[in-house]
Amino acid sequence: MKTENFPIEEVRAQFPALQIKDKEQVFPIYFDGPGGTQMTQPCIDRMLEYISTGMANLHGTFSTSIKTDSLMDEAKASVGSLLNCKPQEVAFGQNMTSLAFQVSLALRKFVKEGDEILVTELDHRANVDPWLQLAEETGATVKFIPVDRDKFVLDVSSLEQLITNKTKVVAVGLSSNLTGTISDVQKIFSEAKKHNAICIADAVHAVPHFKVNFRKMDCDILFCSAYKFFGPHLGIAVIKEDLFRKLPAMKLVPAPNEIPYKLETGTQNHEAIAGLCGAIGFIESLGTGKNSSQRITSGMAKIEAYEEELAGDLEAFLKEIPEVSLYRAAENILKTPTFAFKIRNVNSREATKFFAEKYNLCIGDGHFYASTMGDIFEVMDTGGWIRIGLAPYNTKEEIKIFKRALKDLLLMKS
Ligand SMILES: Cc1ncc(COP(=O)(O)O)c(C=O)c1O
Repeated sequence: MKTENFPIEEVRAQFPALQIKDKEQVFPIYFDGPGGTQMTQPCIDRMLEYISTGMANLHGTFSTSIKTDSLMDEAKASVGSLLNCKPQEVAFGQNMTSLAFQVSLALRKFVKEGDEILVTELDHRANVDPWLQLAEETGATVKFIPVDRDKFVLDVSSLEQLITNKTKVVAVGLSSNLTGTISDVQKIFSEAKKHNAICIADAVHAVPHFKVNFRKMDCDILFCSAYKFFGPHLGIAVIKEDLFRKLPAMKLVPAPNEIPYKLETGTQNHEAIAGLCGAIGFIESLGTGKNSSQRITSGMAKIEAYEEELAGDLEAFLKEIPEVSLYRAAENILKTPTFAFKIRNVNSREATKFFAEKYNLCIGDGHFYASTMGDIFEVMDTGGWIRIGLAPYNTKEEIKIFKRALKDLLLMKS
């Protein structure tokens, strides 16, 4: 979709945070979507509605409890439409990291000494450390799929050596929250399936940018986080029904041992779960189609096309600046609109502080928990990377302001 056909003003109107000026009467420019997007009005409305019309815990006979039970069902069905999974495969939790650690405890049953666990160098550590912990507790060995140092993609050339009959768990990120690289997880998982390994996908950075299809990816477990796609701070795990049934849950004796509830320890964040329905509803409202699933797919396609055009503009600019080193995969590799770069002789923290203070740009710096990458590329002594992540509420005008800000910074440093 060409940017002029995207209803940008209508979209922006649905994000109250975008309407608020700072103390200098300037609107902030949010380029930190990969760290967490702004929240949509439909999400806020649903949260407020839940809180203000009577709250309760589950499984009671009275109206607010019945309302909460049906909210849970609605939210799981909504995630089913968003990710193409069954509602009974969906579990909620505090955030992706906590859910991954919970699942890693449960997976101890399936891993023993001498087995192998495969993770990647590219991933956020939330999709690495829980599986390293699993290895440590079971005596399994850890292997890493390396990153191609020149291409910023996973080097899958030795996949057949990396995945063997000993491989029990393979954890791969669908898309890098640092470089935006979209990995060919299907290729990796299909190799892993030949050896009956459990396949885990971190879709936290993918879900905000393109339609993720759990069934099509053929993974066993997928994680995402609602605050990355215009929603509340809430983690989501999707686990294939057969595996989910077999998974031992860390639970209280009287708590349910059935799917999908057995992973949901204690009382859930019901207001966030209500907000999640609103956030998914926002994506759906952008699309067309006969049912919810089709409208979400169409809404995501519109977001993807809009972001792609903005990303093209930003990428062309960054590539023109000789002082900028961009850590971006080649044109033929699919990527999200997330850019990691460094500026020659400028500490990344100093740069983002300049952008924030002079131009009200919200831009992150550091390794963004993709810390293996930080070590490999030895960037941490100079403040790590600068990261710009675009969201569907960003505009060409905002990118223009960033261009001015970067030129201004370079001028000041020259
Ligand atoms: C790719 C990726 N995976 C995992 C996480 C962790 O998610 P959470 O904050 O929900 O634990 C993040 C958060 O930035 C992320 O970007």
